[in-house]
Amino acid sequence: MGPTSQLVDRFGRVHRDLRISVTDRCNFRCTYCMPENGLEWLPRSEVLTFEEIERLARILVEAFGVDSIRITGGEPTLRSHLPRLVARLAALAVDGRPIDLAMTTNGVLLAGQAAALRTAGLRRINVSLDTLRRDRFIELTRRDALHDVVAGIDAAVAAGFESVKVNAVVMHGVNDDEVLDLATFGRERGVEMRFIEFMPLGADDGWERGRVVGRDEIVATIDERFPLVPVSRGVAPAERFRYVDGGGSGGLGGAHVGVIASVTEPFCASCDRVRLSAEGAMRNCLFALDEHDLRGPLRSGASDSELAALMAECVDGKWAGHAINQVHFIRPARSMSQLGG
Ligand code: 5AD
Ligand code: SF4
Repeated sequence: MGPTSQLVDRFGRVHRDLRISVTDRCNFRCTYCMPENGLEWLPRSEVLTFEEIERLARILVEAFGVDSIRITGGEPTLRSHLPRLVARLAALAVDGRPIDLAMTTNGVLLAGQAAALRTAGLRRINVSLDTLRRDRFIELTRRDALHDVVAGIDAAVAAGFESVKVNAVVMHGVNDDEVLDLATFGRERGVEMRFIEFMPLGADDGWERGRVVGRDEIVATIDERFPLVPVSRGVAPAERFRYVDGGGSGGLGGAHVGVIASVTEPFCASCDRVRLSAEGAMRNCLFALDEHDLRGPLRSGASDSELAALMAECVDGKWAGHAINQVHFIRPARSMSQLGG
């Protein structure tokens, strides 16, 4: 049976991409994301079980045609038995077509998990890596784990994912001098490097407009050393480029580089994402100030159609865009670790 309807908001945007945070916990403490100490984890009972996640995801896929799911955290690899959830989600299909299933991870535990995740049906993986310098890595993440993350990326490449991408948030005065080194890293390993503009999320992330390294600066820096040609762009948030010289020879995308200009060129007008938090709240935007609780109704016996109605209501309330660039912008109180990437 095909989907019965679509998740359309008041601006006509159809939502087909779901991000599921499977835990609020993280084993890093990236300075722009989490305080060093004192972030309280959700009690176990408040976190959705695999059965609950699968049920909500199934409704989104089967009732609304959501055809792409990304598993996030916190750090998703901290969730026990993650491959079991992957296998359940990988079995979901729209009109007989399996969904695209991906994950974003900090990579530190990936070397030990990549093969099992791939076997369970995970198709694509994005690893976050903002610096290639050990001292800087320790400063940024408050963990001495650069070596493990690079090993995780190598393990992901070896595990045969359909794509392995590496995400770097670029910040002035922090790692803006590493754009070329990171691009080179992607070329050498045959993985697509994606540079992300620093966004204001969380109360305590040190965000200032002056720290945002914009898309133009990133592209110019790379293009000067490794000439780039734009790749025609769909609705994806990432603007992609091909290295004129062919770049990395690997088959996983090292010949390309991407930039995600969330701040200087917001892609809100074509946004097709919805998010489910670890405790079962649905959010229609990373920057939304409110959310719809699905766990309460789910645990008190709501039917699939009642849950679907709540999901449709959540999307109906989606605003036009995040307004980071406007004076009345209000930061969400939650950090990326609580929202999912
Ligand atoms: N701005 C941009 N990206 C962020 N991330 C976390 N916080 C921010 C922010 N304020 C990134 C992480 C990771 C992904 C989950 O989101 O570095 O790549
Ligand atoms: Fe860093 Fe991601 Fe963990 Fe936040 S959730 S501390 S960005 S690794």
